[in-house]
Amino acid sequence: MKKRTLLSMAMVATMALATFTGCGGSREGAATTDTAAETTEEAETTEAPAEESFPGFEDGATIGVSLPWLGTQNWKEAEEMFTAQLEEAGYKPIVQAADQKVTQQQQQIESMIENGAKVIVVGPVDGSQLGAVLEQAKEAGVYVIGYDRLLENTSGVDGVVQFGSVKTGELQAQALLQGLEEKKGEAPYNIELFGGGPADPNAPNFFTGAMSVLQPKIDDGTLVVVSGQTDFTQCATVDWDNAKAQSRMDSLLAGNYSDKEIDGVLSPNDGIARAIITSCENAGQEIPVVSGLDAENESVEWVWSGRQYSTVAKPTNDLVAKTIEIIDSLKAGNGMPATDVEVDNGVKNVRIYELPPVVVTKDNAKEVFANDPSRLELLK
Ligand code: BGC
Repeated sequence: MKKRTLLSMAMVATMALATFTGCGGSREGAATTDTAAETTEEAETTEAPAEESFPGFEDGATIGVSLPWLGTQNWKEAEEMFTAQLEEAGYKPIVQAADQKVTQQQQQIESMIENGAKVIVVGPVDGSQLGAVLEQAKEAGVYVIGYDRLLENTSGVDGVVQFGSVKTGELQAQALLQGLEEKKGEAPYNIELFGGGPADPNAPNFFTGAMSVLQPKIDDGTLVVVSGQTDFTQCATVDWDNAKAQSRMDSLLAGNYSDKEIDGVLSPNDGIARAIITSCENAGQEIPVVSGLDAENESVEWVWSGRQYSTVAKPTNDLVAKTIEIIDSLKAGNGMPATDVEVDNGVKNVRIYELPPVVVTKDNAKEVFANDPSRLELLK
């Protein structure tokens, strides 16, 4: 096992997961019950070690932002917000997306290094496939910040800004259980499970968090996974592709539900949730309780109209603002800010700047979006 100096049980489990995920095969890990954000009691504050030096850089510096794709609303928002807010903060942004292609992302990062970027912000297509190019960035004196997803198996990372990923899965599963009780009468409930893209380090974490809540309910008979498919590898959706999720749901329904009702589905994000719901509607099923993630506009409308039960908000604006705060600290020569969470990425302990995700149902939507006029507008 790799060296670990970690802080809480939850992060130990998350870390174990991160370590396993490096091989690109099975990404299952130990279930956790809590998030790092809530388990900082035992944490030691991370200060930059004395030997680490963080030279600042000039106003107007070039900042690279490399996003995995623009296939979900959060990444489109990140593209727009980084461009606008980096400019506003006096930087010269280069913001690019890699269309789910690892090689394209490697080339984009190389060209950002050649263009003199002082910081490169990276949401990886595949968390474990950027080691060499990020190490190249570090050798060139570029700071590297992971954005929304962990950068695994590389020393070429200074820190990662993200929403608690295990916590996200827990919230999705808790909402699923709550929705089943509210909408589907007495247990037992027939459910199916979906995971996100297996190359994305978040996806197994979301699933692990969700299963920590669901597994005991499967074991005691409250929940019945009719297909029997409960492993992440069986449930994952390659490339987070909604069409692939819809066709898996079509097959699950055709193969297992000709004489049964489906009551609920664990979905890792909103696009996949809408694909699942559409598949159920096409099969003539009553709409099951379905979880989600991202508070995408379309899903916020579906939650409001009762078509999708829940989503989880992880405001892009907050994540971008946190990232720019770190860039400002680096520019001033103050280095990476202190944080009380670290994760072993397989090669080193990485500072994690973690924000809290928030579950959204019809009941609390107006509250959650009170300061988000464009989403509030959808609640009519
Ligand atoms: C992000 C989600 C997004 C998914 C697919 C994940 O890493 O955290 O917000 O829905 O990628 O783009």
